Amino acid sequence: MEKFIVKGEVQLNGNIRVSGAKNAILPIMAATLLCSGISIIHDIPYLRDITVMQDILGLLGAKITREGSTLLVDTTNIKEIEIPEHLMREMRASVFLMGPLLGRFNKVRLSYPGGCAIGPRPIDLHIKALEKIGARVKESFGFIKASADCLTGGEINFDYPSVGATENAMMASVLASGLTVIRNAAREPEIYDLQVFLNKMGARITGAGTDTIQIYGCEKLVPAEHTVMSDRIQAGTFLLAAAITRGDIVVENIMPEHLFTLIDKLKDIGAQITMGNNFIRVKAGDLRGVDIKTLPYPGFPTDLQAPLLSLLTVATGTSIITETIFENRFKHVNELLRMGAKIKVEGRTAIIRGMPKLTGAIVAATDLRAGGALVLAALAAEGISEIENVYHIDRGYERLEEKLQSLGANISRHKMG
Ligand code: EPZ
Repeated sequence: MEKFIVKGEVQLNGNIRVSGAKNAILPIMAATLLCSGISIIHDIPYLRDITVMQDILGLLGAKITREGSTLLVDTTNIKEIEIPEHLMREMRASVFLMGPLLGRFNKVRLSYPGGCAIGPRPIDLHIKALEKIGARVKESFGFIKASADCLTGGEINFDYPSVGATENAMMASVLASGLTVIRNAAREPEIYDLQVFLNKMGARITGAGTDTIQIYGCEKLVPAEHTVMSDRIQAGTFLLAAAITRGDIVVENIMPEHLFTLIDKLKDIGAQITMGNNFIRVKAGDLRGVDIKTLPYPGFPTDLQAPLLSLLTVATGTSIITETIFENRFKHVNELLRMGAKIKVEGRTAIIRGMPKLTGAIVAATDLRAGGALVLAALAAEGISEIENVYHIDRGYERLEEKLQSLGANISRHKMG
């Protein structure tokens, strides 16, 4: 187990390039199962979740080689259609494998993906979508078994625009016979990136990025080569790091349109923003409180709620954050209270009274984005902080301490205990 030690009150300045998006890469890695052969995916960061997905694909029979930031996934010898329980439990995103395995082999067996720190994470919408295109799904003894004589295009109307369920439905229906229409689809940019990859494989999908997606079933898909979109959540975290340390950071390799809601909020908070077609610059000013409600894209992203909350603990005035996506996504609050923050949580709402300064403390990451939030708070706090359980952070932020060091942060990684 490892921890970060951070000496706070250091302004971050300089340029940082974000790498490929974890939440685009995971479904695209799953989509390679839809055909036989070698797909090539570029701009892959070193993240624990990607290593877990590599292990799962390997256990299913895929051969994966990594050349720097490029992944080659050979799915010629896929023989298994069962995803091992221990890996399902380790990463919920393994649920993305249901669609492609069902699409290619007409059957799949996986253990029920566990909930996690931020909520129970049900998959009822995934299952309903697969049933709409002809799958029979049986849930018993902690396992889910889905099978179909043949998948046929259908109408999938989501009660809620679930990101994962939209991606699973796209991947399951791409080899079905006939047209599938998904309504009330999630509109996240990662879904558009999946559409681009699937269409490079020979699929005929339109509408990703809007709330209605059409998938024209096809006979066969072929391997593809793709450079994944950049990670808007990683980029947003660095922009917030500039604001909380009152620094001046240029984040490169990011499309501002993917972060418009954050950019607007940073302007309301008092940051100076300039941007081009593939960079965003934040120069911090005096910080003032704002109100935020997390929503499905293009609303404010839930994955940036925790890092933004850290920023608001040192903004003048009161801020109110409402988390509408996950049931339990304020676990970073208890840790921030140890640093002197003034926050009150009532259900899905957090009320933050801004403080002039936080003070360093020993805190523990409870999940990926909460960990990112604690790093930001420590960068601004007076004195030394220790952030334990860094493995949570390594799931979604590639070598975070090295990237922050390159911007001037005083942060280092140590063994715990
Ligand atoms: C994806 O999770 C992301 N993960 C999450 O990022 C992100 O927070 C989330 O979308 C929302 O943007 C990946 O892409 C790998 P959802 P996903 O299905 O697909 C409920 C990170 O930090 N729901 O849109 O699981 C669910 O409980 C991670 O990188 C159902 O009720 O999100 C939640 O309350 C965390 N039934 C809400 O919908 C279902 O069948 C949003 O879930 C599915 C979801």
